[in-house]
Amino acid sequence: MSNVIELEGQVLAEVAAASSEAALDAVRVSALGKKGRVSALLATLGKMSPDERKTQGAAINAVKDRVTEALASRKAVLAEAALTARLSAERVDVTLPVRDTAVNTGRIHPITQVTDELTAIFADMGFSVAEGPDVETDFFNFTALNFPPGHPAREMHDTFFFSPDANGDRKLLRTHTSPVQIRTMMGGKPPFRIICPGRTYRNDSDQTHTPMFHQVEGLVIDKTANLANLKWILQEFCKAFFEVDTVKMRFRPSFFPFTEPSMEVDIQCSRQAGEIRFGQGEDWLEILGCGMVHPNVLRHCGIDPDEYQGFAWGMGIDRIAMLKYGMTDLRPFFDGDVRWLRHYGFRPLDVPSLAGGLSG
Ligand code: DAH
Repeated sequence: MSNVIELEGQVLAEVAAASSEAALDAVRVSALGKKGRVSALLATLGKMSPDERKTQGAAINAVKDRVTEALASRKAVLAEAALTARLSAERVDVTLPVRDTAVNTGRIHPITQVTDELTAIFADMGFSVAEGPDVETDFFNFTALNFPPGHPAREMHDTFFFSPDANGDRKLLRTHTSPVQIRTMMGGKPPFRIICPGRTYRNDSDQTHTPMFHQVEGLVIDKTANLANLKWILQEFCKAFFEVDTVKMRFRPSFFPFTEPSMEVDIQCSRQAGEIRFGQGEDWLEILGCGMVHPNVLRHCGIDPDEYQGFAWGMGIDRIAMLKYGMTDLRPFFDGDVRWLRHYGFRPLDVPSLAGGLSG
């Protein structure tokens, strides 16, 4: 009899001490399971005399009932505690303001913005966008553009070359977007009216040069395209891009192997306290190179220079972005510093358009 009471005390103490539902279940198995301690006592009844069985049986079954009840009520307490803990861990404060979405916190990089702006402007003038690969052959980057092998103008491009292949030919990272002119003319039939924005590469690095930078090329080929058309296009572009009513431009003679005549274009500006303004002032700022496409270039592309003619230009996208949005150093464009982007970036849904405004 005494070991029945002792066992009850022990099991009830274990029930009370169980601190999780799993621990409680272990107690249940060790008391009431097939090989449990209470079950073992019940199994002894069979060997007892009928009188003994009557008293012992009632006592052991009473212990079994009390243990069962204790297990059930402890289980309810532990389940309640587990639920409370889970509810407070998973608590949602529905009164908190909604977190900013990516659309509100993300920013468009100025290069992307400016590329979208100039694409909108030239698209409005009937230009389509052409693209070419960043890794080019010597033929497309130089030879077809009338840079003869060994010509000193090649040296001015600070080219990144790849290792020579089995034939000794070296691929390169395009030094300008002009090879896209060649690819376009070789791959289609005139007339052409395209722009080619894209990445370009030269081994150069300082405040206004980075080894990777961006250019936009323009090309117009038809039977009558001439310098007056080019001048009008560039003037309209500058007014729309810099968002001013007038711009004064000046064309200076220059040299590029792929154009004849070749010119560089400056636009009038004023500089005060480090700030540049367009459409006023006495200063000039170079913004692009251009010219009439050289007959040799047309010939390389299978176009008869006696029938077709045209003009082209190349402009630094990074440079016009810096001018328009007042950045003085190009290098942070490519640092990936989110603080810079937060300051100079554009809101993703303010897509530039001529009707809706370019720069928002
Ligand atoms: N490709 C020239 C450069 O990177 C820029 C250029 C000048 C492009 C005159 C042209 C052009 O299409 O006509 O320096």
